[in-house]
Amino acid sequence: MAGGQAEVWGQLVARRKFGDGTFHGIRYQVLCIISISLRLNILCLLITIGIYFSTTRVALRNTLLMAFRRSCSDLFPVGNARIRETSTARSMINGAMNLSEKVEPLPEEFDPKEIVSPVALELNGVLKECADKSREIVLGRNVHTMCYTINEPEADDDITGEREAYMASVLARYRKSLIERTKHHLGYPYNLDFDYGALSQLQHFSINNLGDPFIESNYGVHSRQFEVGVLDWFARLWELDKNEYWGYITNCGTEGNLHGILVGREVFPDGILYASRESHYSVFKAARMYRMEFVKVATLVSGEIDCADFERKLLLNKEKPAIVNVNIGTTVKGAVDDLDMVIETLEKSGFRDQFYIHCDGALFGLMMPFVKRAPKVTFKKPIDSVSVSGHKFVGCPMPCGVQITRLKNINVLSNNVEYLASRDATIMGSRNGHAPIFLWYTLNRKGYRGFQKEVQKCLRNAHYLKDHLLEAGISAMLNELSSTVVLERPKDEQFVRRWQLACEGNIAHVVVMPNVTIEKIDYFLAELIKSRLSWYGDGESKPPCIAGDIGEENCCCSRHNT
Ligand SMILES: *Cc1c(COP(=O)(O)O)cnc(C)c1O
Ligand SMILES: *[C@@H]1O[C@H](CO)[C@@H](O)[C@H](O)[C@H]1NC(C)=O
Ligand SMILES: *[C@@H]1O[C@H](CO)[C@@H](O)[C@H](O)[C@H]1NC(C)=O
Repeated sequence: MAGGQAEVWGQLVARRKFGDGTFHGIRYQVLCIISISLRLNILCLLITIGIYFSTTRVALRNTLLMAFRRSCSDLFPVGNARIRETSTARSMINGAMNLSEKVEPLPEEFDPKEIVSPVALELNGVLKECADKSREIVLGRNVHTMCYTINEPEADDDITGEREAYMASVLARYRKSLIERTKHHLGYPYNLDFDYGALSQLQHFSINNLGDPFIESNYGVHSRQFEVGVLDWFARLWELDKNEYWGYITNCGTEGNLHGILVGREVFPDGILYASRESHYSVFKAARMYRMEFVKVATLVSGEIDCADFERKLLLNKEKPAIVNVNIGTTVKGAVDDLDMVIETLEKSGFRDQFYIHCDGALFGLMMPFVKRAPKVTFKKPIDSVSVSGHKFVGCPMPCGVQITRLKNINVLSNNVEYLASRDATIMGSRNGHAPIFLWYTLNRKGYRGFQKEVQKCLRNAHYLKDHLLEAGISAMLNELSSTVVLERPKDEQFVRRWQLACEGNIAHVVVMPNVTIEKIDYFLAELIKSRLSWYGDGESKPPCIAGDIGEENCCCSRHNT
């Protein structure tokens, strides 16, 4: 349904439920009057009905109604909107006919004002500015820039449909803003090239794959048949035999890292975690969560792990096993650590059989296999686990990920949890059962060859973007195996937000995903070049030097551009 349609739909729901107010109004008003009069006296009834029907003046009818309402006002709050009158009158009728029915009071200590801000409900789903407009990160304070407040339903909302109409119009507006935001979306590596219409029939089910994907649990509404199919596909991609792998579909790439590092720690309880300083923050988080000894390794300008530094640090800690996080695509620069050199460094330093390697392939885990020159990620090499995000290149519309590890490792980790009739080897308990179906669907549709085509398109478009940036005199870098273009941070925060660029220090990046077309790139380039004229055109302020981040040869600042 298009946004406009949804809005119309919302109004329709409202109209169908409210009527135009008049028909119901008369019927209930008459009933009200009859019922109260019966309980008062018959004369009063006759007079009231007489006056009621003899007048066509709305004002007089309303006066009558108000008089009645006031007598009941201790039981029912008086609404002032016309549409509300109808249902209030109806509630009163119920009240009049069944006085034994009491509205269930909320517990004393429950104060809705404490959980929702006390803003009045606005019928057209108007977005509230809840707080100041600054989007600076202020530690210690929750900044609410925008929010749709939650308003406690009124007793009669179900009847009037007012609430449904309100919510439908909020959703329609939200949808419009999503479309707009998606159009200007360059900084986050999400593949938007999908159409999952066929799966909408499943949204009514509460599908949950809690526990281990390979052991049936007592909960029957699951999608393990899809999950295991997807896992098999990834195990085949990374060359691990069906009977030798274990894995599951995670809630995100972070969970994969948390799992991989946890398995490493269980295999080597006194192991030290090594990761390059450009690793994803979830790796550092894992070290903190598990209270592991942690050694940060330097990186090259490209963002790859610096194996010389790695070797030095290994040799300082020879007595303890190494648990190594290898990046298959770093978050900021899209750098791919040289897996072969990492293994070589470990063996050269005397760590034979005393290491565990987790490959963080959240970003490029599914792109690398299709790039010819890339070092191959495969379990034929001595690696132990690989994870990938499902919502990045794979293009699942909800966050998810895939984690594959060696079965022999998992036996170290798992315990029996009797009440699940399952084995406890996952980080999370309940797991999204819809995600495996989306993955299954997209893998079936695209297959190896489809992904290969998409990867080629991304790499081509990324080169196009980098070349045109450099041509325009804008510092830019693109790693050989990557589709992440690093560029100077645009001076204007408004611009950064508009294009949703992820920034770090003086650099920003554009992750070229399948939906980042040449047209979109041209549009972005034109806007950037034009904006830069207004930022730097007067010659007074100058673009930042980012040679330290991307190398002198890629820097176009006034010192390096000659
Ligand atoms: C995105 C990313 C992650 C985390 O993935 P989420 O699915 O966002 O939790 C981990 N590592 C790298 C390199 C990433 O780019
Ligand atoms: C009145 O309300 C009470 C309590 O909810 C219910 O048990 C009873 O059946 C109702 N009577 C009528 C006539 O609806
Ligand atoms: C992404 O691209 C595909 C075709 O390449 C297109 O059909 C789809 O509408 C695009 N989606 C978005 C959100 O831009």
